[in-house]
Amino acid sequence: MSASAVSASDPTVPLLARPVRIGSGSGRSGDARLLEAGHAVVVPGRGDRPAVGVRDLGDDREPDADRPAGTGRRRVFEPARRRSTVSTMRAVRFHEHGGADVLQVDEVERPDPGPDEVLLEVAGAGVNPVDTYFREGSYEPYGLPAIPGVDAAGEVVAVGESVTDLVPGDVAYATGLSSDRPGGYAEYVAVPTDRVVRLPDGVDPVAAGGAGVVAVTAWRALVDHAGVEPAEDVLIHGGSGGVGHVAVQLARAVGARVVATAAPAYHDEVEALGAATVLDYARDDLADAVLAATDGGPDVIIDHRLDDYLQFDADVAATGGRVVGIGENDPGIGFERASDARAKDLEVTLMSTFNTPRLADPMARLALLFDRGDVRVEVARTYDLDAAGEAQHAVMDDSFLGKLVVTP
Ligand SMILES: NC(=O)c1ccc[n+]([C@@H]2O[C@H](COP(=O)([O-])OP(=O)(O)OC[C@H]3O[C@@H](n4cnc5c(N)ncnc54)[C@H](OP(=O)(O)O)[C@@H]3O)[C@@H](O)[C@H]2O)c1
Repeated sequence: MSASAVSASDPTVPLLARPVRIGSGSGRSGDARLLEAGHAVVVPGRGDRPAVGVRDLGDDREPDADRPAGTGRRRVFEPARRRSTVSTMRAVRFHEHGGADVLQVDEVERPDPGPDEVLLEVAGAGVNPVDTYFREGSYEPYGLPAIPGVDAAGEVVAVGESVTDLVPGDVAYATGLSSDRPGGYAEYVAVPTDRVVRLPDGVDPVAAGGAGVVAVTAWRALVDHAGVEPAEDVLIHGGSGGVGHVAVQLARAVGARVVATAAPAYHDEVEALGAATVLDYARDDLADAVLAATDGGPDVIIDHRLDDYLQFDADVAATGGRVVGIGENDPGIGFERASDARAKDLEVTLMSTFNTPRLADPMARLALLFDRGDVRVEVARTYDLDAAGEAQHAVMDDSFLGKLVVTP
């Protein structure tokens, strides 16, 4: 497309015809199927792929003692970098569906906020499994070409005429992007006020860029769907993951006793996040270990791999337990023995964060927890826009604690 073909009203139309290819993936790397909220999608399996293109954070890391509330220990200071000219911005886009190699960096028109929108200068945009579902086409993005990224955080640089809660200079985080509007893998993103919330002073916008969907998912699962109460036993499967590591902290903040599963490399960190017991998800006696760590079994279970654990959940749950399913690799999930679940009056809820009535509501409550240091988002690695393909490979294939974040 030539510069003369640019539409002034479409913020995603490229101004320059010199895209930069990023990522070298060969497309789907696995054949596992996932059914989430009624959508069948293909999810690449995890493998041994190295995290290519990851920036060395070693010298950039801030000492733990200096960490502001609500931030990850791997917070990094971003070096000054070339920004686009005022009216344009750099953005990752895919012009067609496919593997990570369809992601490219384009120079596009910088969006203007609508009347009820704010414009964020993006400091961080979380990398989530769902970003790959949109890229592959198993979830429908707002159109093509599309800017990926459900999450973003950064400084508010402009506000629409109806906006009263946010002013330029505020730092805010957003989620719910890329399904109906451009996402966060860009230098700037315009966000409606029902899905953006001001961050308390001192919260790292890079870490907050990774917070949106995982924090809201943890909130919706634990608070809205499970109705977790103080002193209840909560089992979080995958407690080192994006959703899992926030869920561990949130359940602990509510006053629950948390049992989490994780790979052994992360047991100390997940315990430090608030889990009373951390168990290797690969151990053969996992059910016995969960029962031993709880008072008659977990009252609440957050399950991100229902195809692996739904019957397990029924086996270990307390009578009257609540299971909230947020994901699965195989759409054909079901109980092996539904009678076990029925005998316990087990309540099973399958949820999608896209159904959240107003994203800003749980986000505002979560921001209070960031401020108090009760919940923090751990940033495992950051990636430049040009390395977004590697980031999307890594979120599906690599093992890490917390979040991967694109830093434009
Ligand atoms: N329903 C919704 O609205 C919603 C919202 C957000 C996410 N999700 C879904 O929830 C899932 C997790 O998302 P996420 O962002 O937290 O992903 P993530 O950051 O990749 O975390 C996944 C975690 O699962 C762990 N894991 C791998 N194999 C496991 C096993 N056999 N048993 C237990 N844990 C295992 C991984 O640990 P290792 O890598 O160390 O093995 C990793 O920590 C995805 O399927 C995602 O699509 C759904």
